[in-house]
Amino acid sequence: MPALVLLGAQWGDEGKGKATDLLGGSVDYVVRYQGGNNAGHTVVVGDQKYALHLLPSGILSPGCTPVIGNGVVVDPSVLFSELSGLNERGVDTSKLLISGNAHIITPYNVTVDKVTERFLGKRKIGTTGRGIGPTYADKINRVGIRVQDLYDESILTQKVEAALDAKNQMLTKLYNRRAIAVEQVVEELLGYADKLAPYVTDTVLVLNQALEQDKVVLFEGGQGTLLDIDHGTYPFVTSSNPTAGGACTGAGVGPTKITRVIGILKAYTTRVGAGPFPTELFDEDGEALRRIGGERGVTTGRDRRCGWFDAVIARYATRVNGLTDFFLTKLDVLTGWEQIPVCVAYEIDGKRVEELPYSQTDFHHAKPVYEMLPGWSEDITGAKSFSDLPKNAQAYVKALEEMSGAPISAIGVGPGREETIQINSFL
Ligand code: GDP
Ligand code: IMO
Ligand code: MG
Repeated sequence: MPALVLLGAQWGDEGKGKATDLLGGSVDYVVRYQGGNNAGHTVVVGDQKYALHLLPSGILSPGCTPVIGNGVVVDPSVLFSELSGLNERGVDTSKLLISGNAHIITPYNVTVDKVTERFLGKRKIGTTGRGIGPTYADKINRVGIRVQDLYDESILTQKVEAALDAKNQMLTKLYNRRAIAVEQVVEELLGYADKLAPYVTDTVLVLNQALEQDKVVLFEGGQGTLLDIDHGTYPFVTSSNPTAGGACTGAGVGPTKITRVIGILKAYTTRVGAGPFPTELFDEDGEALRRIGGERGVTTGRDRRCGWFDAVIARYATRVNGLTDFFLTKLDVLTGWEQIPVCVAYEIDGKRVEELPYSQTDFHHAKPVYEMLPGWSEDITGAKSFSDLPKNAQAYVKALEEMSGAPISAIGVGPGREETIQINSFL
């Protein structure tokens, strides 16, 4: 019953889409367990490039059943436009399964996301504006709308009424916006019911039965460890649990079933949106990483903030996720630097600190302590095995592995499926 969790070890955009796609051919189910269409996962197959937001990347592998678990928040309009975009490109999406317990991102959740960010001004989080936070807030507040509610008009109406009651007060009195009509929302949501019906099922039962039958299940995280609502750089985080435990709650699979937890780790660091980022660069090196790495958001088109590799964060990701492996991505982007700085610890108020400080105030003051590693100039995009890499690239990988606390079992040397060096098998 191999059950693998594949998740972001940094602040998202580590290359989870590519890693999932690489495994897609050998797994039976690929499951999204949290987040929604705030994610942007890129998959490159030959000369075709796909950007997936809500759908699991396994949808591109013909033998694989893609699943949207109970922990995901689903915007139906995005779902159907993503499905039809794939259908137009010849991708069969008919096997998709969606949990009846997944929560719906309603139009008012999107509105609330946008107005609250605007209201926060300088203190804004820099969300993707997709309604993610307000939808999870409704879920926790017990006024959320679930996929299954679309099949009972009376319950749906009552729930939308309950959800809009306080929100309309807030929108009109605090934010100076127009109230949202219950009937309009109900009508829009009911309009999705029939189209959604073929996909809706008890995904918890399906996945647990699959594991009993020795099928391979891959849980594909959205976002990353440092964006986790509990373990990330709160409040500059997303509103779900991308960390490994999230796969259990967000898919209804017990922790004893998880056999492997793979952390996707970029060979340097990026972040989108606001919040602390100790190794962030504001010079030509940062600009070069952005240019060479193509560091522009898949969902919002925002430039990603770029910086050197941070081993403190990688160690932290190993700990909070119980990582068994790393998949190191984008090593090719570092080709050409004479020396590559790697952050090995922080200096906080004059003291050397080896582990991520739990205090937000301390983390905001953390200054990176760098060790310089020798770079390489040879093109590595054609490397097929570890020994094909230049000695200094090998030493860079080995140093990162030592500092990060889990074996680096695969290395990405380009965006394509084949541009991967597999060191240990994941299955
Ligand atoms: P995700 O959100 O974690 O799936 O990552 P994104 O798709 O947002 O961003 C990762 C970007 O890096 C995408 O453009 C990928 O095609 C690309 N990519 C992934 N792995 C590699 C790699 O090893 N080398 C290079 N050069 N690009 C990569
Ligand atoms: P993938 O899956 C990078 C960031 C946003 C913002 C914060 C909260 O492609 O790695 P939200 O809309 O979730 O409430 O925004 O989280 N964020 C991401 N950053 N990659 C992502 O997804 C992200 N999803 C959300 O930029 O800072
Ligand atoms: Mg992304």
